[in-house]
Amino acid sequence: MKRFALVTCLSLFGASVAMAQAPEDEETPYSRSGADTCIACHDAASTMAVFNTPHGVPTDPGSPFGNGQLQCEACHGPGGTHAGRVRRGQERPSVIRFGADSDASIATQNGMCLGCHESNVGSAWHGSGHDNDEVACADCHQLHISHDPVLSTAGQPNVCFDCHQQQHSQSMKPYAHPFDEGKMDCSGCHSPHGTAGDRLLARQTVNDTCFECHAEKRGPYLWEHAPVAEDCTNCHNPHGSNNPGMVSLRGPMLCQTCHSQPDHQSFANGPDGLADGTASKYLLGRNCLNCHTQVHGSNHPSGSKLMR
Ligand code: HEC
Ligand code: HEC
Ligand code: HEC
Ligand code: HEC
Ligand code: HEC
Ligand code: HEC
Ligand code: HEC
Ligand code: HEC
Ligand code: HEC
Ligand code: HEC
Repeated sequence: MKRFALVTCLSLFGASVAMAQAPEDEETPYSRSGADTCIACHDAASTMAVFNTPHGVPTDPGSPFGNGQLQCEACHGPGGTHAGRVRRGQERPSVIRFGADSDASIATQNGMCLGCHESNVGSAWHGSGHDNDEVACADCHQLHISHDPVLSTAGQPNVCFDCHQQQHSQSMKPYAHPFDEGKMDCSGCHSPHGTAGDRLLARQTVNDTCFECHAEKRGPYLWEHAPVAEDCTNCHNPHGSNNPGMVSLRGPMLCQTCHSQPDHQSFANGPDGLADGTASKYLLGRNCLNCHTQVHGSNHPSGSKLMR
């Protein structure tokens, strides 16, 4: 039979807070005095740090420690038997644990969080790349810590790099977005809970995502360069590259992935060099960009060849 009992607890705050006990499960009841029961054994500073977070605010009725909530057990599930006496040689019944050592399924773990976060997180989350691949909320979020690293620009990339090694090595290349300086994080471009677009991108398309910060590249241009309007990643690797300007290939090769060499009207002596053995003027230094400086588009009346 289910019942709701009012228990007084949380003497922790000097004042008593009324707490409704959730419907009891015959096998695993909730503890008698909520957090007070738990912290009798779990009073390490690292555990108690939960009270320095938005979850530990008793005046917020929606928080686990708000009036009528289940406190520690809002996340860890009913801990009545876990908190009880254990005979010598017997194993302590477990509560819901988070992380790699957990016995609980990812669905169970995430379900504890989504019970409260369905409205702000759930709609994006369900069916996202991370949900489909069984990533846990607690793989990214730490809750017993006053500042969850994944929520700060400086702390976030390392959380993601734990699983995304390839992006980690790209980010360490000489030309990259300034991740390691704490000036840029992954959520500048990605919405990790999920999005309507591909690749968890924060905006519908790659370009709209880039325009958030590089608005000047949006144009409109009198003379567009087709691959720019199409997708910035035609030329750039957004996570980092060895080439100046963070482009995916160096020098004329970048342009020549699309522009065939013989088509250039001015290649009198062929693309690889002049007849006297010196390099072609079209391939010197910054190469194509020596003349075609406006690779992103031009607004000059005679800029059709992207040269001014
Ligand atoms: C009587 C002491 C005691 C009380 C009360 C107690 N615990 Fe524990 N708890 C332990 C011990 C001992 C362990 C380590 C168990 C092990 O490693 O097998 C543990 C482990 C845990 C773990 C790690 C996961 C697991 O099950 O091993 C969590 C999470 C936890 N407790 C939460 C709670 C919560 C929440 C409460 C309050 C409902 C609570 N504990 C009450 C003694 C206690
Ligand atoms: C009893 C309800 C409840 C449960 C269960 C719960 N949360 Fe929360 N959570 C809140 C409230 C309330 C806030 C503060 C207001 C807000 O940001 O919505 C919050 C805030 C957060 C924040 C923002 C923290 C910050 O510093 O701004 C994160 C991240 C979060 N929760 C993740 C989780 C995860 C992960 C779980 C599961 C392990 C979880 N929550 C379980 C109610 C809950
Ligand atoms: C891949 C890493 C990752 C996972 C997995 C993840 N989060 Fe987050 N979460 C973040 C980041 C990053 C932010 C900061 C958002 C931002 O900067 O746009 C955030 C913000 C939040 C916030 C506070 C802001 C808000 O959107 O209300 C809550 C609450 C939250 N997450 C809950 C959850 C819950 C619940 C789950 C599991 C269903 C979850 N998160 C899974 C990375 C993650
Ligand atoms: C909002 C959800 C939430 C609340 C409330 C919460 N915890 Fe936790 N707890 C977690 C998560 C998630 C972890 C995994 C480590 C982390 O994220 O910091 C954890 C880890 C732990 C651990 C370490 C277990 C292990 O796996 O090694 C203990 C012990 C613990 N919590 C006890 C408590 C106690 C006691 C309370 C109440 C004072 C409490 N928790 C309140 C979510 C919560
Ligand atoms: C616990 C491991 C883990 C963590 C931590 C993690 N991810 Fe992921 N991520 C995955 C897995 C698994 C996939 C799906 C397989 C894949 O595409 O590699 C994925 C996929 C992605 C994708 C591609 C999604 C798609 O739909 O194609 C992006 C983007 C991404 N993660 C960004 C992030 C960001 C940003 C963070 C940090 C806020 C992060 N991830 C943290 C495991 C993780
Ligand atoms: C400047 C914008 C930007 C930033 C910042 C960014 N990404 Fe991306 N990310 C993209 C774009 C665009 C794609 C899709 C095209 C591609 O894969 O190059 C992508 C794709 C991904 C993918 C999927 C790769 C695949 O092949 O499916 C993962 C995983 C990923 N990013 C992780 C991260 C992580 C982790 C960070 C933080 C260190 C991060 N990204 C920061 C723009 C960005
Ligand atoms: C959240 C803001 C933000 C977003 C979104 C963003 N960038 Fe950036 N971008 C920056 C910052 C900051 C720098 C570094 C500027 C500096 O160092 O002066 C930068 C620099 C660059 C550079 C020059 C790198 C170099 O080494 O010269 C390129 C190229 C670039 N971004 C391309 C992109 C592309 C492509 C996208 C979309 C996939 C994108 N950016 C999205 C913030 C952003
Ligand atoms: C056709 C290839 C190509 C495409 C597509 C492209 N870029 Fe570039 N981009 C370059 C080259 C080449 C450079 C280096 C220019 C230099 O060295 O002066 C560059 C440099 C940059 C820079 C740093 C220097 C500057 O001009 O501010 C930013 C930022 C940038 N691109 C953003 C973008 C964005 C945003 C998009 C998509 C709208 C985009 N690029 C599409 C080739 C391209
Ligand atoms: C992803 C393919 C691609 C890459 C890479 C590329 N372009 Fe283009 N470029 C095009 C396309 C497509 C057009 C439009 C052709 C048309 O309209 O006939 C174009 C047009 C041009 C034009 C104007 C041509 C005309 O007839 O008006 C110039 C100049 C040009 N590109 C130079 C460059 C340079 C320089 C680079 C290297 C920085 C480069 N392109 C990289 C695809 C590319
Ligand atoms: C020394 C200056 C110079 C350099 C370097 C140069 N171009 Fe040009 N390019 C021009 C001029 C001038 C035109 C327009 C007249 C013409 O068609 O010959 C042009 C036209 C083009 C066109 C338009 C096609 C056409 O026939 O109108 C493309 C595409 C192009 N260049 C690509 C490139 C690529 C790719 C490179 C690098 C391999 C490059 N250019 C290097 C001067 C240069």
